Amino acid sequence: MQKHWWQETVVYQVYPRSFKDSDGDGIGDILGIIEKLDYLEKLGVGAIWLSPVYASPNDDNGYDISDYEAIMPEFGTMEDMETLIYQADKRGIKLVMDLVVNHTSDEHAWFVEAKKGPDNQYRDYYIWADPAENGGAPNNLRSTFSGSAWEYDENSQQYYLHLFSKKQPDLNWQNPRVRTDIFAMMNRWIDKGIGGFRMDVIDLIGKVPEAKITANGPRLHEFLNEMNQKTFGRKDLLTVGETWGATPAIAKQFSDPKREELAMVFQFEHSGLDQQENGEKWDLRPLNVAELKTVFEKWQTELGNDGWNSLFWNNHDLPRIVSRWGNDGKYRKQSAKALAILLHLMKGTPYIYQGEELGMTNTPITDISQAQDIETINMYEERLEKGYTKEAILHSINAKGRDNARRPMQWDTSENGGFTTGTPWIALNENYKEINAQKELADPNSIFYTYQKLIQLRKDNPLIVWGDFQLLDTADEVMSYIRSYERKRWLVVINFSDQSQPFSSEEVIDKVIIQNDEQKLSSLETMILSPWQAFVVKLK
Ligand code: GLC
Repeated sequence: MQKHWWQETVVYQVYPRSFKDSDGDGIGDILGIIEKLDYLEKLGVGAIWLSPVYASPNDDNGYDISDYEAIMPEFGTMEDMETLIYQADKRGIKLVMDLVVNHTSDEHAWFVEAKKGPDNQYRDYYIWADPAENGGAPNNLRSTFSGSAWEYDENSQQYYLHLFSKKQPDLNWQNPRVRTDIFAMMNRWIDKGIGGFRMDVIDLIGKVPEAKITANGPRLHEFLNEMNQKTFGRKDLLTVGETWGATPAIAKQFSDPKREELAMVFQFEHSGLDQQENGEKWDLRPLNVAELKTVFEKWQTELGNDGWNSLFWNNHDLPRIVSRWGNDGKYRKQSAKALAILLHLMKGTPYIYQGEELGMTNTPITDISQAQDIETINMYEERLEKGYTKEAILHSINAKGRDNARRPMQWDTSENGGFTTGTPWIALNENYKEINAQKELADPNSIFYTYQKLIQLRKDNPLIVWGDFQLLDTADEVMSYIRSYERKRWLVVINFSDQSQPFSSEEVIDKVIIQNDEQKLSSLETMILSPWQAFVVKLK
């Protein structure tokens, strides 16, 4: 099998609005990212996935794009963007752009034209349908952001489809002109020297709305193969598709090299484990660690050579992992490091979301007026109407709301955590005086240095990148696995709980590779792991 740079690297996701503000307007920007490239180089990452920086009215914080080839003025200029690509490249870091082509903004020139009427040459760039017989929406497809996925257009007396907000009309990928225009746009970005694309909700582009098919539609893979051939195909770029419903079989369809589609996908099976079956993400249930282990084992073993995994706990849509499944109180440091070790020793390309390397936590709110995220706000209104109590809704928001991940980066102890000299667009977590990059960098035992070491270990040890994976049978709340490559074997052990846990193995330690505390490790026989204890040892 051919090897690629993106299999050996670690990616860092930047959410530009909240990363670093260089000009005091309270909004992070591209020059701010450039200021922090040395920090990212020190961490050791090989690529940045940059959430959207394109022109956008910001109905969904940039995931509603009005011009794919202009930069949002709040973030800077195209020249800044080119400088960022160049400066990152000088530090061995490639820029992976967010490609949001399931939909555009309703302010994109194509949609402005399309709305002019059925005869307009851009009409078919989007998905229109006549009202149902009763005059209502064509069918009961729902938007991810609550309510109907159809919006009525007075002018033409037709509905258009929006699987997200009504300011995010869905593109019609069945129209070859849409594909040609998008591929040309992608090629212009590739020519600027970017390292790849993260493809937003890409499994939706094959939709057949009249049959109520949204994800994994019949022509999805044909479109992606065509995209591959007409754009990045022979360029060895990192391409990662966001695919919420992927199973291993589906993931192989996207990422089997022989099929010439994408390099890998983000699958979310593990991420759904604290959600009630048949419920929405807001319908909570506690995580069962045994289930988590089964899911990881499945993904680690089933792709084989016919696909590639991405590994992540966090992104801009998910709550902070240390608050979600770790312990953001007493064991914050210990659990943040344990979760990092668990993830980064597996096979696949790891992604770190900004602030994860500092152990940043969720930020609870006490009133909906403190929320900024459209998904959260729409859900709040919808559930109030349905009769849920405010308390119950806020409880879900604090556990799962997207603003948790979107609070500004905590750089230092100065006002606003060094994120901005102005008023931040969204308030910081008040704990920035205790949790910040400056403090982490000054402490050799910090979470930051655990991440740094994990990244370095991956660079130095093909075993982590290519080795086989075997899950061991342990206590429910202990996860342990062996990676093996050529004649080497490494054992990974994590206590995924706030309690002591037993662990025992007849294997013999050759040397300690990494651990999240200073306990002396000599024998693996009848151990009592302390809460969140985690270590990796090379076996004899
Ligand atoms: C993806 C993005 C999310 C966005 C949605 C619509 O899920 O990650 O932030 O709201 O797509 O573009």
